Amino acid sequence: MSDSKVYPVSEELAATAHINNEKYLAMYEQSINDPDAFWGEEGKRLDWFKPYTKVKNTTFDPHNVDIRWFEDGTLNASYNCLDRHLETRGDQVAIIWEGDDPSDSENITYRDLHQRVCKFANALKARGVEKGDVVTLYMPMIPEAAVAMLACTRIGAVHSIVFGGFSPEALAARIEGAESKVVVTSNYSLRAGKSVPLKQNVDKALEHAAAKALVESVIVVKRVEQDVAWTDVDVWYEDLVAEASADCPAEEMEAEAPMFILYTSGSTGAPKGLKHTTGGYMVYAAMTHEYAFDYKEGDIYWCTADVGWVTGHSYIVYGPLANGGTSLMFEGVPSYPDNSRFGRVIEKHKVNQFYTAPTAIRALMQQGEDVLGDSDLSSLRILGSVGEPINPEAWEWYYRIIGQSRCPIVDTWWQTETGGMMILPLPGATAAKPGAASRPFFGVQPALLDADGNELEGATDGNLVIKDSWPGQSRSIWGDHERFIQTYFTTYKGYYTTGDGARRDEDGYYWITGRVDDVINVSGHRMGTAEVESALVAHPAVAEAAVVGYPHEVKGQGIYVYVTLQAGFEQSDELLKELRMHVRSEIGPIASPDLIQFAPGMPKTRSGKIMRRILRKIAEDDFDALGDTSTLADPSVVDDLIEHRMNRK
Ligand code: WT7
Repeated sequence: MSDSKVYPVSEELAATAHINNEKYLAMYEQSINDPDAFWGEEGKRLDWFKPYTKVKNTTFDPHNVDIRWFEDGTLNASYNCLDRHLETRGDQVAIIWEGDDPSDSENITYRDLHQRVCKFANALKARGVEKGDVVTLYMPMIPEAAVAMLACTRIGAVHSIVFGGFSPEALAARIEGAESKVVVTSNYSLRAGKSVPLKQNVDKALEHAAAKALVESVIVVKRVEQDVAWTDVDVWYEDLVAEASADCPAEEMEAEAPMFILYTSGSTGAPKGLKHTTGGYMVYAAMTHEYAFDYKEGDIYWCTADVGWVTGHSYIVYGPLANGGTSLMFEGVPSYPDNSRFGRVIEKHKVNQFYTAPTAIRALMQQGEDVLGDSDLSSLRILGSVGEPINPEAWEWYYRIIGQSRCPIVDTWWQTETGGMMILPLPGATAAKPGAASRPFFGVQPALLDADGNELEGATDGNLVIKDSWPGQSRSIWGDHERFIQTYFTTYKGYYTTGDGARRDEDGYYWITGRVDDVINVSGHRMGTAEVESALVAHPAVAEAAVVGYPHEVKGQGIYVYVTLQAGFEQSDELLKELRMHVRSEIGPIASPDLIQFAPGMPKTRSGKIMRRILRKIAEDDFDALGDTSTLADPSVVDDLIEHRMNRK
């Protein structure tokens, strides 16, 4: 798009940033031509117990996908985030915690955090957790969440964080999938002044026989003074740490030892637990955090994500703390006590880098230009965006209203699978174009393929793939390497398939156009349409369900559901409500359908396959261009679907 607006790099940043354009080009070239030398050098940003002598040993060959980085080195993630900083910055704030209630905040120094982590690590050991065991964290955004993560990695346990908005059903499935013996949670969580019964959800999850048989301990943080039901596996976090010693040496881990699992949705089947390992992930998280935000000593950095998502792993906890940074952790929501909250927090803590999601920007944008009130935003230096494509209108608003037309916006494209940022405009190097993720990070070789797998050259559209490994990449799906290979390395042989489509413009900038598979992105939350469908058909009234995304002003995509009822069931407002509640209880509130249409029949081919293309078009209110419908078994169903469509512009 040659007519797109370009925001050049400021002279000041070009002169002072870690990476300017010249450096970017030279480093990028070396990272591709000599990855061993490049990453061998970058790996030194961590402290290793035993230095590596091998750097890259990876293959995307679909018969044998095998990814190893720094494989003969040993290290510990928690040590790199804590111990190594104690001498130089023990009294520096590691985590600024800002509670749901604006009067509730806390500064935790590196020394404090180290102590708390050591104690909880010993507490985990006392509950029988050993190296290699999986600990499930189902927690609100409180310091104990970061403490628990770092305590796990300290003793070589693997954490599996389940976002606190997921239902007991979803939690049970993840406990079972990871064969986790210990769950860490809190009695309640607080959101916009209301308490959410997290512990009660754990109890419900443990009504599943398989989960119950596994779990030996549920460790409960007392977030609020409120009672909860108690069982014989439950133990208070506070009681455990009160008796624990603060002396807990960090376990020496191999670079390729699993560090954490994180479940994410795909186009088919149940969510998969992506496995990340220690050395490569930590190098990549630390490096991308430093360069993307031009992070400098003493900066106050705030990422608004939840630790339940990969963004929270890499860019609230591991990246910033590995860099000895100060990371702000926010428990609340942007609209409480009122819509100026983001501005108030930036002002209160003098935030320098602010990293949020387009859906949050669009929600604020709807409130008008004075939404942040008289908040003083002058501390801000760099803004980031993540989770979905940012539409140019939201980009401009973000730039003007929050960035006061002086802070660059770093639009970061990446995935749970990639561990860290992949395509982004480095603030001192790359002129920004609103809506473009722009240029690849070091070591990342994007390519665009046509449907037959041919690499396309020049300015064009295509399926976004990555040609070779980078250190932060997920190594496998927990317990199912075959599925890992099937999902990411077989569609286009020899490449990592991202599932996204992209356009490359004449300047070589990448513009992410969205998923090309049956995954939708609702408020930056990733969801498989198949998952929502299988939740729906589990309801007795539903004979068949089809789920598609449609453009939604704030959420990016909304969830549009078509259901065909079982004989004997009538459509009603009651039933609509019930189906919504049903999906919420099967998956969680984030999967709640926006629009539900009762459909007497689905548009199917003669072989019985639902033609989703047609359902998508109707959901988009764009039914003039349905394309060829002649292969449908019963073309007349389309007329009914159009007549009763729910999204009318
Ligand atoms: C999917 C990954 C990245 C961490 C949070 C989400 C979409 C993410 C961008 C962006 C365009 C983006 C992609 C990707 N996505 N960031 N800056 N521009 N699209 O991680 O839940 O694994 O979702 O989110 O579609 O594949 P995730």
